Amino acid sequence: MGDTILHVLSILTYTLVFILGLGLLAVIFMFFADVSQNEDAVRRNYPVLGRFRSLFSTLGEFFRQYFFAMDREEMPFNRAEREWVKRAAKAESNTVAFGSTKNLLTPGTAIFVNCPFPTLEKDAAETAPITMGPYCEQPYTAKSLLNISAMSFGALSVPAIRALSHGAKMAGCWMNTGEGSVSPFHLESGCDLIFQIGTAKYGVRNDDGSLNEEKLRNVAHHEQVRMFEIKLSQGAKPGKGGILPGEKVTQQIADVRGIPAGESSISPNRHPEINSIAGLLDFIDQVRRVTGKPTGIKAVIGAYGWIESLCKEIQVRGIESAPDFFTLDSGDGGTGAAPMALIDNVGLTIEESLPMLSDILHKYGLRKRVHIIASGKLITPSEVAWALAAGADFVNTARGFMFSLGCIQALKCDKNTCPTGITTHDPRFQRGLDPEDKQVKVANYCKSLVHEVEIIAHSCGVDEPRGLGRKHVRIVQDNGKSVPLDELSPRPEVLPEYAN
Ligand SMILES: Cc1cc2nc3c(=O)[nH]c(=O)nc-3n(C[C@H](O)[C@H](O)[C@H](O)COP(=O)(O)O)c2cc1C
Repeated sequence: MGDTILHVLSILTYTLVFILGLGLLAVIFMFFADVSQNEDAVRRNYPVLGRFRSLFSTLGEFFRQYFFAMDREEMPFNRAEREWVKRAAKAESNTVAFGSTKNLLTPGTAIFVNCPFPTLEKDAAETAPITMGPYCEQPYTAKSLLNISAMSFGALSVPAIRALSHGAKMAGCWMNTGEGSVSPFHLESGCDLIFQIGTAKYGVRNDDGSLNEEKLRNVAHHEQVRMFEIKLSQGAKPGKGGILPGEKVTQQIADVRGIPAGESSISPNRHPEINSIAGLLDFIDQVRRVTGKPTGIKAVIGAYGWIESLCKEIQVRGIESAPDFFTLDSGDGGTGAAPMALIDNVGLTIEESLPMLSDILHKYGLRKRVHIIASGKLITPSEVAWALAAGADFVNTARGFMFSLGCIQALKCDKNTCPTGITTHDPRFQRGLDPEDKQVKVANYCKSLVHEVEIIAHSCGVDEPRGLGRKHVRIVQDNGKSVPLDELSPRPEVLPEYAN
């Protein structure tokens, strides 16, 4: 017995000495590697120790959100917002205790004006459906005011698409395909789909990238494809086309998009055939004629003179020629991959552009004709209620629904290493995303959010969310005092020539 213990102890000692020796050799090797390289000044001046700097800054990215960042501090979404979505997705109670952790004096904060006699629950109305595309062969009546924003198959994984599509079916909302075309996974649940035509026209393209009417007609034959959205731009990367790194272009994705597998899929930065207002209206007309379904556009606004020109041209051609909807994205919208300069500093935020777009359409007598779908960090009830009050008919969210799928904001959407399986095609990571479980969370999030927007509406004395107007919301200014939104952005008069 004693001999065995001594034998084990001596093996452990040799092992320890061997490991320490290896460690020492590694340190010596790193020392000489660091002093002899000339790419990194810190490692050259502080050999071995300098390596900890990059290790800590990499780890800091992960640890900050758990240990150091305050509840309302992180970007793009803070912990309070993410936790709200998480609870909503689990259909847990979203009541909180003790008081608000939000600083209500921060400029830009929206404060809703509750009335002394809120709407009784028994008097509350169902949110009325809205019909889009009145001049089409097949108009679309949309029930849900909150819907799933464009995210392509490619940016998203198969299990993520399946969970979103089944969740949309359960919640009765639509799902936008994004620019990666429509896959069997979008279709399998029977949910309503909006087919997005991106600048590369994936799924409806000829080899040279132009529109293939035959393929477009075939897509429109799917009954559940209800509308078509022509993407001019998206908030995170205006003036830049979609980017799907080669490592994410699997055979399956390549087949759906109609491109070679393994090669990076980079869309042109504009639809080559649309270079003017007239060209845009012609293209809308072509898509609507071929498909027989409502057709709209998606854009982030920067320069806005073109919106006035668009309205004038629509009035010249007749209001049937108008896009059936305008999906307005915010300059701080999300993306699978984009250059930081565009993500950060190009395109107006939804706070500025939404009232502006709504007013221009109103001025030209087109507000009822062109429905506005707003998106851009509108993931909690107060943000959605603000958008409806400011001028939106519908709200889309991409990242809100990603959080409902379990996204932890790891910021790895472009790397194929998403730890929650949402934006990766690596089966190892996808294993964690069970579509059966997550589809229920997607539906819960949608329903809970709409329910709480209704609560805000009732508190303001209106019987349903679309009854909210600019007079119901005040915006906190630099001096900490709030000003009504209808004073900050007063509705213009309809121009006399278009008032009828
Ligand atoms: C992973 C990911 C993929 C996206 N793919 C598309 C796309 O294919 N087409 C598009 O128009 N927008 C795309 N977007 C932008 C969203 O549709 C949306 O406009 C934007 O993220 C703002 O909404 P959010 O703040 O609710 O996420 C994508 C966003 C994300 C996060």
